[in-house]
Amino acid sequence: MRTPVIAGNWKMYLTPAEGKAMVQELQTLTAGVTGREIVLCPPFVTLPAVAEAAQESAIGIGGQNMHPANEGAFTGEIAAPMLRACGCTYVILGHSERRQYFGETDAAVAAKTKAALAGQLVPIVCVGETLDEREQGITQAVIEIQLRRALGGLTAAELTGVIVAYEPVWAIGTGRTASPADAQDVCAFIRTVLAALQAEAAPKVRILYGGSVKPDNIRELMAQSDIDGALVGGASLQAASFAKIVRFE
Ligand code: G3P
Repeated sequence: MRTPVIAGNWKMYLTPAEGKAMVQELQTLTAGVTGREIVLCPPFVTLPAVAEAAQESAIGIGGQNMHPANEGAFTGEIAAPMLRACGCTYVILGHSERRQYFGETDAAVAAKTKAALAGQLVPIVCVGETLDEREQGITQAVIEIQLRRALGGLTAAELTGVIVAYEPVWAIGTGRTASPADAQDVCAFIRTVLAALQAEAAPKVRILYGGSVKPDNIRELMAQSDIDGALVGGASLQAASFAKIVRFE
C-alpha cells in the first residue's frame, strides 16, 4: 500500500559533472526497476545537471534544505520555487547535520515543511536521537518532540504527503547501523505518534530508515513492516552501490 522510497543524500559531494555521470550510470543499472520511488538529492549547484540527465527516467530529484520564504533578502539561501525550477519534487528537511552544525530548530523545520508542501515539494523530514540520548533511554521522547513540533500543525492531507526519515545520529556515516529490529521499533513508534497527530494519515506516511544503509543490510531493513525505504548517504555516491540498494531484492 505504501510505495517504497529509496533516496540518496549526496550531502556536500559531487560536482555537476560527477553528478551527471553518476545519474547516467544509475539509469542503466536500474533500468526496468519498478514499484519504488528513486530520489537523488545533490548539492544545489549540481541539481540542474542531475535533473537534466535524469529527465527521461523515473528518478526524482530533491534539495537538501530550503528557506521557508518564497524569495527575499536571505543571503546563501534557496527557496522552494527555485528548487522546483531546477527540477526538484522533494526536499530533505531537518537533517541532523543541519540541526547540529547550522542550529536548525524544530520550529524552523515546521515552517519549512509547511512551505515545502505549499510549494509542491514532498518534504523528507528527518528525526533521530543522538548516542547520548539513546544511552539515557530517551529515544522515544526525543523523537516524539521532534515529530510533534515539526508536523503537529499539518492537516491529515498535508501529513499524508510527508515522508519521515528516522536517522539515529550515532548511525550516520559511522558504519554502525541500527539493527533492523531496533529500527523497526522506532519506526513503529513514529507511526503511533503520527497516528496521534492525524489518525487517517499515519498508515499512509512513508517512513524511511537512514544511517549506514548499504547493499548488504538493505534487504533486512526493507523486510520490516514499518520501514518503507531508506535515506542513504555515503553509499548513494556511487551508482553501483546505490543501484544495489535500489534493487534490494
Ligand atoms: O541522510 C542520509 C545520512 O545521514 C546517512 O548517511 O552515510 O550513514 O548513509 P550514511
